[in-house]
This record gives sequence, structure tokens and C-alpha cells, in this order.
Amino acid sequence: MGVREKSIMESEAKFHEHHHFEKATEALKAEHRIIERVLAVLEKLTKSPGDIRVDLWEKAIDFIRNFADKCHHLKEEGLLFPALEEHGVPRDGGPIGMMLFEHEEGRGYVRAMAAALPLAKQDLVTAKTTLVENAGAYLRLLREHIAKEDEVLFEMADEALTSEDQKKLLKEFEEHEEKKMGAGMHEKYLAIATELEERLS
Ligand SMILES: [Fe+2]
Ligand SMILES: [Fe+2]
Repeated sequence: MGVREKSIMESEAKFHEHHHFEKATEALKAEHRIIERVLAVLEKLTKSPGDIRVDLWEKAIDFIRNFADKCHHLKEEGLLFPALEEHGVPRDGGPIGMMLFEHEEGRGYVRAMAAALPLAKQDLVTAKTTLVENAGAYLRLLREHIAKEDEVLFEMADEALTSEDQKKLLKEFEEHEEKKMGAGMHEKYLAIATELEERLS
């Protein structure tokens, strides 16, 4: 087994052991690493616009909508950010407001990608351009967004939250997944990330 495969397997193993995270911010960072793997796939897809591999685009968009947005961003919006507000981090005019704005901006790009895909499938050149441009905008936005959270907002969160707050959030994250996504969701989307990587390597 190669070094890269080993490190992916280790991060996946760690990812499944929710209870082993000490902090909510660690769990969110682990999700960032998985999202980044699919962003790299998306980047590769944008580099072969002549031949649109529809099923791969569909899988990547499904991953983004369900794992990156519904699972990950909604944990931040519904659970982490409100906890930070309770600890005096202002929502407006600060990093939380900016993160919320960027989540919304990303949803716009994803909607445009999903709308363009069926037309790109019919070989419509303008639709292919729309697809590739929105995917490019999305991955630039999300990479910077993730860096801001990892380096700024989560640092603030680790300062503001007590270890009890962090543990409470971890528990709420699990409830969020069970309620909003259903059982087996992590396994399903991890498998999709790996499949996309393999098919594009
Ligand atoms: Fe975010
Ligand atoms: Fe995030």
C-alpha cells in the first residue's frame, strides 16, 4: 500500500471514530480534508471540458450538495456558529457573517452547475462553459473558505468554547447526521470521494 493510500485510510478510520475527536472543530477539519479531495477531482473535471463525463460530474455535484453543504455547512450554520454567538462572537460584520455569505455564494455556483449539466450532456457548448466556469468559481471560493475557517474561525472557536461546549457540539453533530442524513451517510460519501479519485487518476 502506498503512502498516500495509507494516509487516506488512516484519516477515514479517524473520521469514523467520531467519539475520538476531542473537539467539534477537529471533526469539521477532518470533513474539510474530505471535501478538498473532491475539490481536486472537480478541478480535474474542469480541465477536460471538451469531453464532459456526465456521471462523474453528477457524482461530484451530489457529493457537494449532500456532504459539503447539507452535512458540513449545516453543522456550522445550525450548531457551531450559534454556539460562538452565545460566547460573544458577533454574527454580523465579523467572520461568522462572512462564512454564511460564502456558503450562500457557493450554493449559487452549485445551482448553476446542476442546471447546466443536462444541457452540457447534449453537447451544448455554452452549457459546458457555464459548467466549467461555475465549478472553477466554486472550488476557488471553497478552498479559500476552508482556509479561513481552519486558520481563523476555528482558532477563535477553540479560544471561545470550553471543552464541554466542544463535546456537546460533537454530540449535536452526530444527531444532525442521523436526523438530516440518515445512517451510513459518511460511508456512502467517503466511498464516492474515493471512487471519483480512482476514476480520474
Ligand atoms: Fe463553512
Ligand atoms: Fe467548513
